[in-house]
Amino acid sequence: MPLFSGLSCRDLDLIARQTDVIRADGGRVLTRQGALGEEFLLIVDGSARVERDAKPIARLEAGDFFGEMSLMDGKPRSATVIAETPVTLLVVDRRSFRSLLDGVPGLRRKISVTLCERLRKADAGLASRN
Ligand code: CMP
Repeated sequence: MPLFSGLSCRDLDLIARQTDVIRADGGRVLTRQGALGEEFLLIVDGSARVERDAKPIARLEAGDFFGEMSLMDGKPRSATVIAETPVTLLVVDRRSFRSLLDGVPGLRRKISVTLCERLRKADAGLASRN
């Protein structure tokens, strides 16, 4: 999992203790746009589609995470994420996510970098439409 690469054994242990594994069928809504965010999720296996106003905006695969925005800014879910295939997910609840962000700076950095990448991609998409 790229999100965890380079983290220390102590950090990985901290993360493992605050993480659950769940499975969901293809077609299942994993986060719903506008809803309150309660979890951070990381795809271990399978893929998911990100939709904004019912239009696809991104595809997430094994190693990708989602659900961080709502937990970081306290605002409603920015998009709906739907499993495209059966998926296996690591799930971290809101409180654990906050404590991991504070306790594992390497994790916070990686999540921030991914947010930057997603913003750059969205900017490029906007610019190419104008
Ligand atoms: P959150 O707003 O909590 O819930 C929906 C999630 O979809 C969001 O967090 C991000 O993790 C994810 N998401 C939103 N927009 C994009 C995007 N453009 N690319 C990839 N993932 C996204």
